[in-house]
Amino acid sequence: MNVNAQQTVIRVSTNETDLVMKTAPNGRLYQAYFGEKLLNEDEIQALPHYITRPSSDGSVTPRGWEVYPASGAEDYFEPAFSIQHNDGNMTSILYYKSHEVKNIDGNTQETIIRIVDDQYPLEVTLHYMSFAKENVIKSWTEIKHNEKKPVNISQYASSMLYFESPAYYLNEYSGDWSKEAQLSTQELKFGKKIIDTKLGTRAAMHAYPFFQLGLGQEVSEDQGKVLVGTIGWTGNFRFTFEIDNVNNLRIISGINPYASIYELKPAEIFKTPEFIYTLSYKGVGKASRDLHTWARNYQLKDGKGDRLTLLNNWEATGPDFDEKILKEWMSEAKNLGVDMFLLDDGWFGNKYPRINDKAGLGDWEAMYSKLPNGIPGLVKAAKEAGVKFGLWVEPEMINPKSELFEKHPDWVIMQPNRETYYYRHQLVLDLSNPKVQDYVFGVVDKIITENPDISYLKWDCNSPITNIYSPYLKEKQNHLYINHVRGFYHVMERFNEKHPNVAIMLCSGGGARCDYEALKYYTEFWCSDNTDPIDRLYIQWNFSQFFPIKSMGAHVTSWNKSASIKFRTDVAMMCKFGFDISLKELAKDERQFCSEAVANYNRLRKVILDGSFYRLVSPYESNHTAVMHVSEAKDKAVLFAYDIHPLFKEKLYPVKLQGLDPMKKYRIKEINLMPGVISELVEDGKVYSGDYLMKIGLDAFTATRMNSRVIEIVVL
Ligand code: DGJ
Repeated sequence: MNVNAQQTVIRVSTNETDLVMKTAPNGRLYQAYFGEKLLNEDEIQALPHYITRPSSDGSVTPRGWEVYPASGAEDYFEPAFSIQHNDGNMTSILYYKSHEVKNIDGNTQETIIRIVDDQYPLEVTLHYMSFAKENVIKSWTEIKHNEKKPVNISQYASSMLYFESPAYYLNEYSGDWSKEAQLSTQELKFGKKIIDTKLGTRAAMHAYPFFQLGLGQEVSEDQGKVLVGTIGWTGNFRFTFEIDNVNNLRIISGINPYASIYELKPAEIFKTPEFIYTLSYKGVGKASRDLHTWARNYQLKDGKGDRLTLLNNWEATGPDFDEKILKEWMSEAKNLGVDMFLLDDGWFGNKYPRINDKAGLGDWEAMYSKLPNGIPGLVKAAKEAGVKFGLWVEPEMINPKSELFEKHPDWVIMQPNRETYYYRHQLVLDLSNPKVQDYVFGVVDKIITENPDISYLKWDCNSPITNIYSPYLKEKQNHLYINHVRGFYHVMERFNEKHPNVAIMLCSGGGARCDYEALKYYTEFWCSDNTDPIDRLYIQWNFSQFFPIKSMGAHVTSWNKSASIKFRTDVAMMCKFGFDISLKELAKDERQFCSEAVANYNRLRKVILDGSFYRLVSPYESNHTAVMHVSEAKDKAVLFAYDIHPLFKEKLYPVKLQGLDPMKKYRIKEINLMPGVISELVEDGKVYSGDYLMKIGLDAFTATRMNSRVIEIVVL
């Protein structure tokens, strides 16, 4: 190998973090440093390419941290990459070839590094995109070869990162339908911990594509070093955390290679998903705010735009409605003051009407017995009522009881020779097949083209892949999990290109799809079908670790009616706000309260949707919880304080605010009060400095179970 005599130093930086990579005399590329930004360039140049820590017996073991280690070399821990060459050989050693740095905009830089095998025509390109202000880096990899025949790649990580710390604490998030994003913490010890999914689609139902890693201490909100990482892949992903014999940790992130040995043709490029990460030195609160800002600026569909408040009918009607009933819902939406009425599942299917979840998926024609004037009739009615109109779809799925299934059983992922099993009575369409991609695109394209006044789609995905077999891929079944997801992206790309102004909710029987690649195409995601406000406080707390508030859908429903309408509303209002409840079931004062809450939200939505978000009191560490949103100019803020299950004679502590200007004065006002109720907040109506509010705080908590307060804080 042509070894570069001179060491090459590659520095990927944000305003706060440096990732330094260096070539060694052997020509290979190593991670020399990853941590808080270094101040002296000469010291960066002088960093060793390997870690040398003397043991207590005086011995020194230099250990290189190869940036993209392939299988078969001298590193005996988990590699980032595995390949079988045409001659059957299963090793690769990748040597530094070249790199370049591109300035994308004043804030973003892309570093592209080429590493190549010296024995085989194999090239791997490592991409690092760094966002200076937001302190976020994302990395992905491209793999290409020029062997005579296709090669098999069986591991193809997006990224490999190494850490050296006395202790590692992992926060992972797991779940199921209606119990999304449940937090658990563990200390990592020698060996491997894997977080992965094999569900194919609805992929995050049990394991979520994000984590937090406390370095040296458990993850904490406002102090300590923490890595927050997430993978942008709407299918099978895998994070491997491996601690080696000298207590160093490597984190390998990427597609889960389970049942997915990929056959890569000569000259074809295999592009991995993006692994997105931030290192915070001030706890996870700062990491969340950085991710939120980054996502709004760069990743989320319409990240800087407004969001629509809505009234949805699912929880109250299920599929039992007709045009007359829906018209009433539209005028209810108008009276409530929300922007839109969203029609949910059950509006389609004629030969196999969608009267429940057993039939109709695939037949996207309005059910004329319920809706004689079809979707155009509803769009017109919404216009007349003075609200926007949104529509539920689930175009990636099919019920066997459908005309589509009768016509195209070959479009369905199912075994040709085994008994079929179903999840929610449905099956997944085979998006690895370009014809099926065209069909799925065609379904939504037709709806919007014929009804350009539809403002919003709720795009659902209720089943994982069952009976994994693609009639289209034939003997290439090992490509199905990957090509299915790529097919989904093709559809979304096409749709968004043609209809950029349609807001879309990413829903997956609740929050089982929530990753940053999908969110390029969706304005928000539905956090959970569980809208019990108590459960939601935890679910929202956890999703907010990774995703901006404006992407988190939260609705007021009838779940847990023992909580007041005020409590339920106050919980939904801290996110992207909506209702999914029959207003008829509410008392007069409750309806009035809801309308006033919508008006309050409209006044404050800019702060709530785009402000800096602070988690002040954790529901995991207290019988209460509080969060706040602060505008960029620090002239407005909203505090949400919730009493979950206070104990008798419990001492109540003031809530110390964050993010305000200590030098400015703010007026405190409790809002969202039930009609006729006067605030009992002792600070109500008074003026305090930001300094006071952040150091002493507000007595926002009460001793009443399921009580809540929304407090508006406005600069004088
Ligand atoms: C699952 C979603 O999470 C619900 O909100 C609702 O849209 C149903 N699907 C409809 O089938």
